[in-house]
Amino acid sequence: MNARPVKISAVGTHVPERVVTNDDLSRTLDTSDEWISSRSGIRERRIAAEGEAASDLGAVAASRALEAAAVRPADLDLIIVASLSPDMLFPSTASFISGKIGADGTPAFDLSAACTGFIYALATGASFVASGQAEKVLVIGAEVVSKMIDWTDRGTAVLFGDGAGAVLLEPAESEDEAIVGFDLGNDPAGVELLNLPAGGSRNPASPETLATGQHFIKMNGSEVFKFATRVIVKSGREVLARHGRRIEDVDLFIPHQANIRIIDAAARKLGVPPERVFSNLERYGNTSCASIPLCLDEAAAAGRIAGGELVLMVGFGAGLTWGSCLARMGELKRIQE
Ligand code: COA
Repeated sequence: MNARPVKISAVGTHVPERVVTNDDLSRTLDTSDEWISSRSGIRERRIAAEGEAASDLGAVAASRALEAAAVRPADLDLIIVASLSPDMLFPSTASFISGKIGADGTPAFDLSAACTGFIYALATGASFVASGQAEKVLVIGAEVVSKMIDWTDRGTAVLFGDGAGAVLLEPAESEDEAIVGFDLGNDPAGVELLNLPAGGSRNPASPETLATGQHFIKMNGSEVFKFATRVIVKSGREVLARHGRRIEDVDLFIPHQANIRIIDAAARKLGVPPERVFSNLERYGNTSCASIPLCLDEAAAAGRIAGGELVLMVGFGAGLTWGSCLARMGELKRIQE
């Protein structure tokens, strides 16, 4: 597929300091640690401070990825940000981040594909590098989902968390350290299953939208659950088949971190053994577009991405969207703590 091979060369992440446990949530919501951890696998999440927005987290993650790669902000050719909790509807969070990291003049835009945004952004950025339109692209997933949540709705409040992750894309020396391919998809029949109804041009902000909580995430959890399990398997198989790989070839499976039962069921159906599945959901909850880069960073820190591994990343989310990226990893540079 690639005109020239593209590698994921560096990663940087950042999460807010504040940890909110399930017990903390149980104090204000009719829920329990037992319910949340057994139904979702989540034990705690990070929650941004007042005044802290997606670009604040994303800029730190971006700077860390650049520092790890020893790349100056001015050397970037493109910045793409995926987020469902952008600083503002416009201008883009990418614009805010470019200002914060000192990448003035670099093209920067946001991409909207809900929780699948990171994979869509990776595919977009990789195409720029593959085609020779860019040498260095920074792809960032940055989320402060906590500010889009109705904290009285136990069906959503317990699931999400805040965080950011960034990766640098560059031309690869060879296919031995390059992205193999992508599978992207969208099913518009699912628009009603997961959305944030008001504040856009369909339901502009009004006293009524405010009074009826239409500025918060609404979700049909059980339908999204069924969709997610099905689509992870379908998309994972598709990208493998398209590039002549088998599930046995996959060294590390990094699914979007939404619910451990979704991850376990999908891994079982795909035939990925538990020791090849990566999850950090219990400490972060669903960080939407940040979940996969957060996993990449931790997997590299744990030595599970050391160079040579075939990694299958699969995202899913509102739209309903899905996306898979199959990548042969080289060294994934990160700042050592
Ligand atoms: N604490 C305690 N009880 C809760 C609860 C909470 N936080 N949230 C829901 N419940 C209750 C429900 O009201 C319901 O009670 P009832 O039986 O009296 O009606 C019961 O628990 C079971 O609810 P149900 O929705 O069937 O639970 P579930 O096992 O499907 O789990 C989710 C709910 C939301 C955890 C699960 O459906 C899920 O994770 N869906 C996917 C969500 C997702 O991934 N979204 C993001 C996509 S990017």
